[in-house]
Amino acid sequence: MTMELSRRGFLGSAGTAAVLGAGTALAADPGQTPADSQSVKILGFSCSPRKGKTTAAALRICLDAAKAVDARIEVELIELAGLKVPGEVAAGVELAPGERDDFPGLAPKIAAPEVGGIILGTPVYFGNMSALCKAFLDRWMVFHKEKVLANKVAGVLAVGGGRNGGQELTIRSVQVALMSQQMIVVGDAPPTSHWGGVVWAGNPTVAAGATPDVSRDAEGIATVKNLGRRVAEMALRMHRAV
Ligand SMILES: Cc1cc2nc3c(=O)[nH]c(=O)nc-3n(C[C@H](O)[C@H](O)[C@H](O)COP(=O)(O)O)c2cc1C
Repeated sequence: MTMELSRRGFLGSAGTAAVLGAGTALAADPGQTPADSQSVKILGFSCSPRKGKTTAAALRICLDAAKAVDARIEVELIELAGLKVPGEVAAGVELAPGERDDFPGLAPKIAAPEVGGIILGTPVYFGNMSALCKAFLDRWMVFHKEKVLANKVAGVLAVGGGRNGGQELTIRSVQVALMSQQMIVVGDAPPTSHWGGVVWAGNPTVAAGATPDVSRDAEGIATVKNLGRRVAEMALRMHRAV
């Protein structure tokens, strides 16, 4: 067992402080404000293994809507496509020699105190989140013990190829993991007001082989925009910026 493997195993099973780095402030106190209390950051994670496709497109629209809420909102879209996030590390399983793990590079970004909201976007895979999304959320075990993400606002959007392909079930499944982190889970704001962003990518007018244009799903995009708005509004409130 090499030193590197030992360290990675430790990061995966416990050791919040080690993952986040010494001196990293925790965000569990709702009264704790970012260093620049005027700005609140919202991260969007696209959990499709396909870069720049429908989930990322929907998330971009969602983040743009969040940003439009207030000048103090900053947004960043992070695509997990192409990154290696081995979920089994959360259970203490050590990586094989040379196996890549990109999660330790993401963890401090997620836990950063200026992050007031996180939006997870996932494709629907057989009525549930993608394996990449599940592995990513399993790795959030490092935040769980000390409730590092408590009171950050969370929202979820799901993109399915079917009109009724399991988007809401998928959203619910992701939300359970977020609630376990003591995050403030919100749905889409009025007038749509349901569980989050529900997107149909499989518009039948799309040419064979082309990437569907999610913006054609007007009803779905309304939920996506309203989700971004709701997350932004609540993130501002939780950070006492309003
Ligand atoms: C393994 C697999 C399972 C899928 N299962 C479903 C499903 O249950 N319901 C659905 O509506 N779409 C399903 N789809 C379609 C994807 O959700 C859809 O193509 C989505 O837009 C992909 O997101 P992306 O473009 O960001 O990769 C599935 C796709 C794959 C690859």
